[in-house]
Amino acid sequence: MSEGLKVAVVGATGMVGAEMLRVLEQRAFPVRELVPVASARSAGKTVRFKGAEHTVVEIAPEVFEGVDLALFSAGGATSREWAPIAASKGALVVDNSSAFRADPEVPLIVPEVNPEAAADRPKGIIANPNCSTIQMVVALKPLHDEARLKRVVVATYQAISGAGAQAVAAFEAQEVATSRGDEVEKEKLSGQLSRNLLMHWKPDSDTGYQEEELKMVSETRKIFGDPSIGVSPTAVRVPVVTAHSEAVTVETHAPLTAARARQLLEKAQGVVLVDDLSEGRYPQPIDAAGQDAVYVGRIRDDVGNPGGIQMWVVSDNLRKGAALNAVQIAEKVLIK
Ligand SMILES: NC(=O)c1ccc[n+]([C@@H]2O[C@H](COP(=O)([O-])OP(=O)(O)OC[C@H]3O[C@@H](n4cnc5c(N)ncnc54)[C@H](OP(=O)(O)O)[C@@H]3O)[C@@H](O)[C@H]2O)c1
Repeated sequence: MSEGLKVAVVGATGMVGAEMLRVLEQRAFPVRELVPVASARSAGKTVRFKGAEHTVVEIAPEVFEGVDLALFSAGGATSREWAPIAASKGALVVDNSSAFRADPEVPLIVPEVNPEAAADRPKGIIANPNCSTIQMVVALKPLHDEARLKRVVVATYQAISGAGAQAVAAFEAQEVATSRGDEVEKEKLSGQLSRNLLMHWKPDSDTGYQEEELKMVSETRKIFGDPSIGVSPTAVRVPVVTAHSEAVTVETHAPLTAARARQLLEKAQGVVLVDDLSEGRYPQPIDAAGQDAVYVGRIRDDVGNPGGIQMWVVSDNLRKGAALNAVQIAEKVLIK
């Protein structure tokens, strides 16, 4: 252990991969050797880690030889094909894609919520939940422990970086075009996000929901180990580059007040309260970007549904929503 670990970052040239490298460095994760992996498109490029340039290699079975930890963030298809290969060579795989989240043999972990579930990983793979789910369950955890969740109604306000580097570039081009009064290129984002909102994740033909919304339902239930929790989501893409925001309405089996929720959240792991509207203090994506915490504020007794509460939850989708959560999982399993 003192010699450190050989760590492969698959998707090292992407938005989450770049954040992964930053998080590994900032948390002084014991990396003995870094293997940055991407597709043939980026092979030969370099990424910076701990003050040195590291050459990106194209994904292939041999890149996983001797790897202790493989952090995957290169999309579902890449994970489906390559995560089992990495695991078969002995690596602990932490996967950021949706490929394995619903697999009963793959634990879905948020370290502040269900770290114990990581011990049982028959495939050698642990899944990182969807970014919107992660920040919501961190805020819900102390409320669930106290009063047991009955129903959660959530509307997300999701940043464009959640859709990857190319989407951010397309959004920034739209911002320039709208500021100049030029015609906006809409194809890359399936619409205009600049000065607008979008809901364009893949629709589910059976339910009329978007896949992004359905993930919040199934993942929340799996993480809490309680299929009876009602989850009613609406996912919206907003013209913000980094940090997702969520309006969360909560109903519990036992009585819960806003005052008690505030007490619980104040000492909850991973949560920072920012809750003083009279002073203009509430969580905002611009403050959460680049930070590790899940910020919670606007905690209110639900005026339209006595006994319930409402809150506003904001966190950096690339950090707690992806890279940080993945590295925290690896720390729990490999370092303790
Ligand atoms: N962005 C978020 O907030 C967020 C949050 C949670 C989970 N995720 C998940 O994390 C993954 C990556 O997201 P991202 O936002 O970082 O996307 P991105 O910026 O588009 O980056 C994609 C990365 O995957 C690599 N890649 C693509 N196809 C590959 C292949 N066939 N073989 C090897 N590498 C390949 C790319 O390498 P090249 O440079 O070679 O193209 C790049 O490094 C996705 O599964 C996403 O759902 C993202």
